[in-house]
Amino acid sequence: MLILAALHLAALRGHAELGPIYESARHGQLDDPGAAARVVLDVLHRTPDLVRDELWRSTQTNEPGRSAVIQAVVADVVEGSASSINLVDVGTSAGINLFFDKFPVRERDDGNPLTLVCEDRTPIDRSSALPAVLSRVGIDPHPLDLERLDDRLWLKACLWPEERRRHERFDAIVVARPSWPAATILTGRGLERLDDALGLTDPSAMTVVMDTWAAFYFTPEERLDYFHKLSQRCMADNVAWISIESPLTQWPGLAVDREARHRGASQIVLTRPGSSPQGWGWCHAHGRWLEQISTS
Ligand SMILES: C[S@@+](CC[C@H](N)C(=O)[O-])C[C@H]1O[C@@H](n2cnc3c(N)ncnc32)[C@H](O)[C@@H]1O
Repeated sequence: MLILAALHLAALRGHAELGPIYESARHGQLDDPGAAARVVLDVLHRTPDLVRDELWRSTQTNEPGRSAVIQAVVADVVEGSASSINLVDVGTSAGINLFFDKFPVRERDDGNPLTLVCEDRTPIDRSSALPAVLSRVGIDPHPLDLERLDDRLWLKACLWPEERRRHERFDAIVVARPSWPAATILTGRGLERLDDALGLTDPSAMTVVMDTWAAFYFTPEERLDYFHKLSQRCMADNVAWISIESPLTQWPGLAVDREARHRGASQIVLTRPGSSPQGWGWCHAHGRWLEQISTS
């Protein structure tokens, strides 16, 4: 993934040979994909530093499609009880999902690049207003900044070149971001900065902590400590925890799902204030569909 993203980055930076190939791919106009692949491999063999110099990076795709899922789970967790929340996003990348409430969610594409298309199979009523977000705090060891060109190019490089809709959405987010509220970004590992992040929230409202495809990158020890720490905070305080991760991210005491239809999907685990973590549902890795585990 990192090698492919590094090649894409070179193309986005205007590489004389890669640039036109990726531009054709973006517009579905690659007449001879085999010939294009041979040119890309040839560039890689001739100039390996093009990729080698970028291997310090990590795949930091910031996927706004997950906001469609976050909206539904937040609506469920606050149902009837909270008109406002604080939000803490662990592994926030560029912080895009801190603005989960800024994206319209529809069943079909309506031409607005910010619209998230999600086939929602849950009974959640999306017509009710989402709670107001009092504070937005993100944590990441290497946060990306939408205002920095190099960070924007890396975020785009982490999207497949032919996925035009995702590129258009990203470009629209960059334009919209200055009109969205302020967010605080803390640099560091999730476990280390969690208390700092919680300390920045408004104690009069529920705090929702979330991780979306971030705990997957924790070490096993870190993941276990994070699990116990957050479980305790949810039990003791007005804190909820939404985890949307690969099913390979195993949490203590939660059954491992081996259903074939969930392969490649994301598992949603919810911890309500005063409760322990429970499997809540499943969603497409980029939020294109969502289903809730039946509780009946
Ligand atoms: C695949 S990206 C997902 C970003 C975002 N959560 C999303 O869903 O779009 C994984 C992010 O987790 C961050 N990350 C990796 N290890 C971490 C850690 N120990 N604590 C917090 N974030 C971490 C990475 O820097 C990266 O930005």
